[in-house]
Amino acid sequence: MLIAQHNAELAERAARVIPGGVNSSNRRLPWPLAVVSAQGATFTDADGTTYLDYHAAFGPLILGHNHPRVNAAVRDVMERLDIIGAGVTELEVQLAETLCRHIPSAERVLLTNSGSEATFAALRLARAVTGRNTIVKFQGTYHGWHDAVLMNVISPPEKIGRKDPLSLGMLPETIEHTLVLPFNDIEALQTTVEQRGDEIAAFIVEIIPHNIGCVLPRPEFLRALRSLCDAHGIVLI
Ligand SMILES: Cc1ncc(COP(=O)(O)O)c(C=O)c1O
Repeated sequence: MLIAQHNAELAERAARVIPGGVNSSNRRLPWPLAVVSAQGATFTDADGTTYLDYHAAFGPLILGHNHPRVNAAVRDVMERLDIIGAGVTELEVQLAETLCRHIPSAERVLLTNSGSEATFAALRLARAVTGRNTIVKFQGTYHGWHDAVLMNVISPPEKIGRKDPLSLGMLPETIEHTLVLPFNDIEALQTTVEQRGDEIAAFIVEIIPHNIGCVLPRPEFLRALRSLCDAHGIVLI
């Protein structure tokens, strides 16, 4: 049973039993916040303050919190099906079919629980099909918390142009196998592919890097990326 408490009390309890007091470092705030309910465009904290939620859980809440039709659909499925450890369910097939129908380049879909698992699987697949080990990301892009990509997101100026891993405990050999290039820089792309193209399994790119202020890609940069990858047998993620 939940016992209503104030933000500060809940944050203090959380800090005692959850590392950093939150279940993702991305949810950490400089002040205590414990959310007790959410509806539509707002959520309410344990002190009774209601906020307009511009954050929207980093994006997925496009229909707002607790949309009645979404909740009804989830409740309906929960009455007859929960987690199954073998085979497939019709709902998974329906979702994959819908995604393939709406995303022109999608032929098949692997459903994962988080973006980090998706980028991990995509990079592993790229290494498997190319037989190469190096991957390339760009300064300012975020692709999740695993060792191959958790670097050079919001880097301080003195770290730009160098490796900037975001955590202790990351494997140096894995960090070594990721190259970091400046975003929107066609020349850096060309030079890297000329010099090391036959080692590169994949380029991974966030088309609009959101952590550094939603920087727009130059269209010619994306075109160069696509054609260099095609020409050198490199997977573009
Ligand atoms: C472009 C991109 N890729 C991967 C991720 C990682 O996703 P997750 O936080 O679900 O592991 C994010 C998360 O913000 C993202 O924006």
